[in-house]
Amino acid sequence: MEQSLSYLKSLTQNIFDASNQPTILNASNLLYQFYQEFDTFPDKQKDIHLLHGIALSQEHAGDCIKDAKRTIHFINGVFEVITQSIQKFPNTPIRILYAGCGPYAPLILPLLAFFESSQLAITLIDINQSSIKTLTGIIDQLDCQDYIEDILVTDAITYQPKNDYQFHIILTETMFHALTEEPQVAITQNLSQFLIPDGFFIPERITLSLGYSLFGKEPYLNQYNNTYIVKNEANKNRVPLQPLFSIDRDINSTQPFSFESNWITITKDFQEAPDVCIYTFIKVSPSYHLAYEDSLITNPFCITSLYTIQNQPFKIKYQTTNVPSWNIISYKSKQNLS
Ligand SMILES: C[S@@+](CC[C@H](N)C(=O)[O-])C[C@H]1O[C@@H](n2cnc3c(N)ncnc32)[C@H](O)[C@@H]1O
Repeated sequence: MEQSLSYLKSLTQNIFDASNQPTILNASNLLYQFYQEFDTFPDKQKDIHLLHGIALSQEHAGDCIKDAKRTIHFINGVFEVITQSIQKFPNTPIRILYAGCGPYAPLILPLLAFFESSQLAITLIDINQSSIKTLTGIIDQLDCQDYIEDILVTDAITYQPKNDYQFHIILTETMFHALTEEPQVAITQNLSQFLIPDGFFIPERITLSLGYSLFGKEPYLNQYNNTYIVKNEANKNRVPLQPLFSIDRDINSTQPFSFESNWITITKDFQEAPDVCIYTFIKVSPSYHLAYEDSLITNPFCITSLYTIQNQPFKIKYQTTNVPSWNIISYKSKQNLS
């Protein structure tokens, strides 16, 4: 396999043309294989526990490419937003910050050959040292250094650009389903202040909703050992969803993010839909989104069962301190049940 930017461009053309599950899967597999040809630096840090979430090891970050629809829709969304930015902000290089780029920066490197290096000024950051070392080697081998303004090991939750620098596009995919485990929320809180007023944050918006279901019958993307199947095509048990909150570039940055619902009372029989679930919808860019069960990062997430709560009023609570997570507060015991 060729390790050149022009070959990568041909793979990206496949990505643009992919329109159904087999072609999306094939396009992301070819992209993953392309990156396997490069040397990787040994990862001594592995998963890193930060103040507001876990940063994935080099290996796990690299594997994210295999979450096929995620990868393909993000690449398409980034291309759309770069193209719109070039029209919106003519005669200036488009300044892009890619936070949590991992070892392959797979949401931007495949797009470089579609632009002149004078059109883009890209800053790449990741907290994992080996990921940045591996990526630096790949950039050298692809001879695309002219597109890259800066590449550094730093924490995106506290990162401050030099000299009041602001970006036209900020891109970060540092999340897991229901915004658990990884620090997407805290990173969005810090970075959104460095976006110019008409700039683009990718993803544009992440919306979480509450629903009740029989979790074992929920459709979800099952992806392991090279299988890629959506189990349980339709779930008649799912009760209509209620939106909980969204995060976007307007997120409040002044304090750690948290969410607490009002008291919830389930008055009717719940046997058909006993599980309290969170559903994640990602608007990547103006034209691309990831719906429930489209990807590992939008799969449904079960907090607890109503059988555990036993007809008591309850609240659901989300917090981002330490490891982002969901909890149930029961009225009777006022204690965590999950
Ligand atoms: C889910 S992986 C995504 C990798 C790649 N961008 C992709 O989309 O396939 C998240 C990456 O973000 C990095 N990361 C997580 N939290 C970070 C933080 N606070 N600062 C910098 N990088 C972070 C991890 O080290 C990991 O490489």
